[in-house]
Amino acid sequence: MAHREGINVFDPETPNTARMYDYFLGGKDNYASDRQAATEVLKAFPEARQLARANRRFLARAVRYCAESGVDQFLDVGTGIPTSPNVPDVAREVHPGARVVGVDNDPVVLAHDRALVETHEGIRILPGDLRRPKAFLTDPELHEVLDASRPIAVLLVAVLHFVTDAEDPAGILAAFDEVMAPGSFLVISAATSTGTDPEALARIEQVYARASSPAVFRPAEGIRTWFDGFDLHEPGLVDVSHWPSPAGVRPSVRVLAGVARKPEAEEGLSLFAHKLSP
Ligand SMILES: C[S@@+](CC[C@H](N)C(=O)[O-])C[C@H]1O[C@@H](n2cnc3c(N)ncnc32)[C@H](O)[C@@H]1O
Repeated sequence: MAHREGINVFDPETPNTARMYDYFLGGKDNYASDRQAATEVLKAFPEARQLARANRRFLARAVRYCAESGVDQFLDVGTGIPTSPNVPDVAREVHPGARVVGVDNDPVVLAHDRALVETHEGIRILPGDLRRPKAFLTDPELHEVLDASRPIAVLLVAVLHFVTDAEDPAGILAAFDEVMAPGSFLVISAATSTGTDPEALARIEQVYARASSPAVFRPAEGIRTWFDGFDLHEPGLVDVSHWPSPAGVRPSVRVLAGVARKPEAEEGLSLFAHKLSP
């Protein structure tokens, strides 16, 4: 694979966010450095595995919700190492012809995901860095699979907390908004400092500071602003295990989740509501 800006170089010695998450989920695509770092997180926050599983459940439920609302195209950024069920599996249970583009900046993720989807029509995995969204949003390969003139569900699940404030998350969201047709969905989960145990938060931040990306815990209000201009659907921005309905107790480290839809453009403005092509 040609090197692209923002794509990680394979490095088994440095703890890696994708492989640590794989370890929390009970996967096998991780190395000693990942397991050691993940074990430190587990010491600070013993429910990390349950939280990872709850995040994964949210992802599947949100995809089903978007699909049942009529959307059959998905852009999954920070797609992760394959874990059953994957986004295409869930989407295709509802729409057998659903089209999915996965984007990630990690070479291990790209290798595994490509091997899995290589033979599937309408599913593509692309290298891309969420911090440089325009690079992949204008990639002709993405537009071969997704039709930007129709609604798309954009999935930013457990990935925006690897983007620092200096890397401008609001600007990143604005770049997606520009290419999303009315009726598109925005699906987000992200770690929050609101209601999170400050001691555990500090220890987790320390672990990720020496990993492939730092972890950024944000106030709930900051995360809510990412949905500005969209209609946040019920139950709103809630603990990831509480979407769409409460399940289990609230953990001491919180990840918030929400699903929102881009409103239909007002009469007369629709021609300017989004860009149709790269
Ligand atoms: C915690 S995993 C989440 C995987 C999946 N979205 C889920 O929720 O189950 C985070 C994923 O985001 C990817 N990632 C982290 N920073 C990224 C970036 N700047 N651009 C693209 N992907 C990124 C990692 O490689 C990893 O695969």
